[in-house]
Amino acid sequence: MPKTLVKPGSPRSAVVTGAGRGIGRAIAAELVGRGYDVIVTDLDASAAEVTAHEIGAALGLGLDVTDPEASRDMAARAQQIAPLGAWVCNAGVLFEGDTAALTVSQIRTTVEVNVLGVIWGVRAAADAFRDQKDATGGEIGIVASLSAHAPVPGLSVYAATKAAVLSLATSLPSELRKDKIRVHAVCPDGVNTAMVDGMANDGDVRAALAAGVLFTPQQVARELVDMFGTRRVYKTLPAWRGALARAGSFAPGVFMHVDPLVRKVGARRLKKAGIR
Ligand SMILES: NC(=O)c1ccc[n+]([C@@H]2O[C@H](COP(=O)([O-])OP(=O)(O)OC[C@H]3O[C@@H](n4cnc5c(N)ncnc54)[C@H](O)[C@@H]3O)[C@@H](O)[C@H]2O)c1
Repeated sequence: MPKTLVKPGSPRSAVVTGAGRGIGRAIAAELVGRGYDVIVTDLDASAAEVTAHEIGAALGLGLDVTDPEASRDMAARAQQIAPLGAWVCNAGVLFEGDTAALTVSQIRTTVEVNVLGVIWGVRAAADAFRDQKDATGGEIGIVASLSAHAPVPGLSVYAATKAAVLSLATSLPSELRKDKIRVHAVCPDGVNTAMVDGMANDGDVRAALAAGVLFTPQQVARELVDMFGTRRVYKTLPAWRGALARAGSFAPGVFMHVDPLVRKVGARRLKKAGIR
């Protein structure tokens, strides 16, 4: 049974971005289960509305995380329901391809959503927590990725954005501690969502993922929300792959030799599963 995080008699609202489906939806459902009055938000407003209804959230609304003012308005909207208790920056996009191969628009969108979208969310949430009379602070969640820790050929721009938000998550606790605002990031390996479904079956990235561990969105949601109320800043899933990935980033030269072998293992697994 998940631990309830909201004290009886003191309701708290929560906002989850990109929660119309996938990991965000699972995080929103986890927070509903932990007692928060959740606003499910997404670029796709109707997906947000349907998801909110299905998981018993308070509201489902459209929110484009690339708009800083819209994030502030959303925080204010949440405070109309109850003091804000949590904000999760989950929305993200992924375009497969080498840095040289992606279009300017794909690169801009990746940085706008995966980096700036998180920064705007953090600022909106932190200001809302600070303005609240009871000054009990709150929780900020960030969905980064295992790719934040290591070289990821074929996903270099995406991985760079995830490294950026992991870096942000590690600096923020010192900036926000005095206001009792805690920051937690989760860095999962592959997760079974539409984002992975959208990858080319015969591509290198799919093979690299297949060599690792595929989580369910619910597992990731539980691991992220379990950090709430604690000082834990980030968690890599699985921990062993995080350690391996970090070792790779210490010695990118060695990694260049190991990476093709890892992808071969993944390609074999995909063949065995009848995917290629
Ligand atoms: N699936 C994986 O293997 C995996 C692994 C590690 C990290 N992640 C990260 O987890 C997060 C969720 O990914 P997912 O797998 O559930 O992906 P997904 O594509 O299933 O869901 C992403 C959601 O974000 C929304 N979104 C896109 N642009 C937006 C914007 N500008 N404003 C608001 N919402 C927007 C989409 O509409 C969608 O509902 C992302 O940050 C992703 O990078 C995913």
